[in-house]
This record gives sequence, C-alpha cells and structure tokens, in this order.
Amino acid sequence: MAQQVQGVIARAKGEPVRIETITVPDPGPGEAVVKVQACGVCHTDLHYREGGINDDFPFLLGHEAAGVVQSVGEGVTEVAPGDFVILNWRAVCGQCRACLRGRPQYCFDTHNAKQKMTLADGTELSPALGIGAFAEKTLVAAGQCTKVDPEASPAAAGLLGCGVMAGIGAAINTGEVGRGDSVAVIGCGGVGNAAVVGARLAGAAKIIAVDIDDKKLRTAEGLGATHTVNSRTTDPVEAVRELTGGNGADVVIEAVGRPETYEQAFYARDLAGTVVLVGVPTPEMRIELPLLDVFGRGGALKSSWYGDCLPSRDFPMLIDLYRQGRLDLDAFVTETIALEDVEKAFERMHHGDVLRSVVMF
Ligand SMILES: NC(=O)c1ccc[n+]([C@@H]2O[C@H](COP(=O)([O-])OP(=O)(O)OC[C@H]3O[C@@H](n4cnc5c(N)ncnc54)[C@H](O)[C@@H]3O)[C@@H](O)[C@H]2O)c1
Ligand SMILES: [Zn+2]
Ligand SMILES: [Zn+2]
Repeated sequence: MAQQVQGVIARAKGEPVRIETITVPDPGPGEAVVKVQACGVCHTDLHYREGGINDDFPFLLGHEAAGVVQSVGEGVTEVAPGDFVILNWRAVCGQCRACLRGRPQYCFDTHNAKQKMTLADGTELSPALGIGAFAEKTLVAAGQCTKVDPEASPAAAGLLGCGVMAGIGAAINTGEVGRGDSVAVIGCGGVGNAAVVGARLAGAAKIIAVDIDDKKLRTAEGLGATHTVNSRTTDPVEAVRELTGGNGADVVIEAVGRPETYEQAFYARDLAGTVVLVGVPTPEMRIELPLLDVFGRGGALKSSWYGDCLPSRDFPMLIDLYRQGRLDLDAFVTETIALEDVEKAFERMHHGDVLRSVVMF
C-alpha cells in the first residue's frame, strides 16, 4: 500500500520550502522504500531551491541520509528489510563502457527509482539527486542503498552520502594523497574540512587550510590542519609556497567552486602537483590562464565528482574507521534539527555558522 508521509518541498525558484504530505509508492522491481533516520542539509539542496540545478520543480529535497530499509521490490537481493543503509546518489549500472572497464565511479548510466513519489494531488516530485530524504520515508533504487554497521550513529553515517564523502574522496581517491605529502585545501566548509580529514587519514605531513572565515579555519585545525591561511588578509599562493619550501603543495583541493579560487589552486601547487576541483561552479563562470603556465607544469588537473567514490567499497570502510575512533564524523554534525527547521538551516549555512545541520526523524 502506498504510504502518506511528510516531506520538505521546494515549489518554485527562491520560495521558502514547506512541509507537505507526499505519497510514497510501494517499491517496484529493483526499488526499496527506506525509513529515513537522519538527513543532513547540504549546499546542493539550497542550489535546487534557488533553481541552480534545473527547473524540474517541485523538488523533494534532502539527500545526505541514513535509515532502515522498510520494504524492497521484486528481484532485490542486495538489501533486505531491516538493513541499516546509507543512501547514495550514484547507483552504478554495471553495464556501460565505464563499468565494464572497471571504472564504475565514472558510470554513464547511474539510476534512481523508476516510479515517482507525488504530492497529495498526484503532482510528480523530483527528488534531490534522485534521493529526496527530507521525508519520513523515501523511494529509491535498491542500488542507492549501501548496507553499513548498524551501530553507527545515523546523523554521522548519513553525511557520508554526499558532502563528507566528496571531500574525503577528493583527497584519497582523486588526489591520491600519499604519506608525507603536502596538501592545501581552499574553502573549508563541510566538503573542504572533509578533505582535510581525508588528507590526514592518507598520511599527509602538511595540511594547509585556506578560507576567508576564521571560524572555519579553527574547525580545520581541530580536524587536522597543520597550518591555516585567511585568504582575505594573506595571499594564499604566497603562503602555501612559503610553507612548502617555495615549491607549492603536492595536492591542492579547491572546495569553493569559483574562478579565483581555482586560479589560486593552480598556482599554489608544486611543479608536479595535482589540483582537484571539487567545488561546483555555475554555468557562466570562466577561467583564463596563460597556456604556457599550463604547459610549463607537470602533475595533473582533475575534477572530483562525489569523491570518485564507490559506495559499496568506501562507505563500509569509512564507517569502520569511524567506529574505531579514527575518523571523527561526529565533528561535522554541528546541530540536529527537526524537519520543520530546514529553511532556518539554509539561513545558518548561508551565514557560515554550521558545517552540517542534520534533520533527525
Ligand atoms: N564535487 C562533488 O561531488 C560535490 C559534492 C558536494 C558538494 N560539492 C560542492 O563543494 C562546494 C563546497 O560545499 P560545502 O557544503 O562545503 O559548502 P560551504 O558553504 O559549507 O563551504 C564553502 C566554504 O568556502 C569558503 N569560501 C567562500 N569563498 C571563498 C574564497 N573566495 N576563498 C576561500 N574560501 C572561500 C566559505 O567561507 C566556506 O567555509 C560547493 O560548491 C558544493 O556545491 C561538490
Ligand atoms: Zn555503468
Ligand atoms: Zn550534498
């Protein structure tokens, strides 16, 4: 039987979100209904509400979530009712060229539930990143559910579903930070600070956090940054060079998504260093660089979607490290809030007051 639950809906561009009753169908073949326990508020949810992703309103927001599988549809074998899962936004197909070449993190054909959740009047909803977890229950493709240790706190676990995974993965998977490396992270919000944590996990010897907000820099220090640079008052390229014996950092992670910070990352790297762009730019942004400077350096310029993660490989591993006290996911949970408070959480995020507000059910 289809279920009626409460969910956070963005009806139109820039309009405050509202709680509305939504209908969640029973899971069809390859689908699962998940009882959401926790869902973090991410910058991308705000991007959806601002019309910055696409115009497919109304959106059911929320996508950094953990919960318990309530029911599964025909043919689902990877998860079963009662499993504690983290939701992911890239259920890989296993059949496209990238998947067949053994690089499923580049899958061309990731999928979501085929059926639609709807408003009470039957209007079809677009779930944020194919998840829609600011709701008591949500319908997803079974491949979007990754089973992890049920002893983990849902608030902390859910964050691996997006921003924290994007940051840790930018350092570990895309940047391939190694023991002894120097790493600079530009922009220390939830994603950048997760990159700081990832760099530390990977054994980086020097981790330079760059931000325009001292609060964020203090948090970065708490999470393992060895040096901090406020780029409002100090030239970050000069500062990173100075801190790395004049060379620049082995890996520079850009977690803002702006041309000027990308340029800083480009020039703050070592001659053979790697730049990782994890911040998401808007369509009108452009960069202009002397081609000779691009040619004149080795290393690599990379971008990182979702931290090049494989949920089935990375979520259980990171949850194990969390349970062993080696990865402080709780540090990213600034506050827990109720479903009604998502609009207020957007405000707080905008003012830079939080790494993550997490809705608890
Ligand atoms: N690639 C991915 O898969 C992926 C996944 C999730 C989020 N993101 C993107 O990552 C970016 C960061 O997300 P977040 O949740 O951490 O956002 P956030 O708003 O929490 O953090 C942004 C940080 O950048 C800092 N900042 C802003 N302008 C700056 C500047 N000029 N120089 C230095 N620092 C500056 C802010 O003070 C803040 O600390 C966003 O663009 C988001 O869309 C990417
Ligand atoms: Zn594929
Ligand atoms: Zn997100």
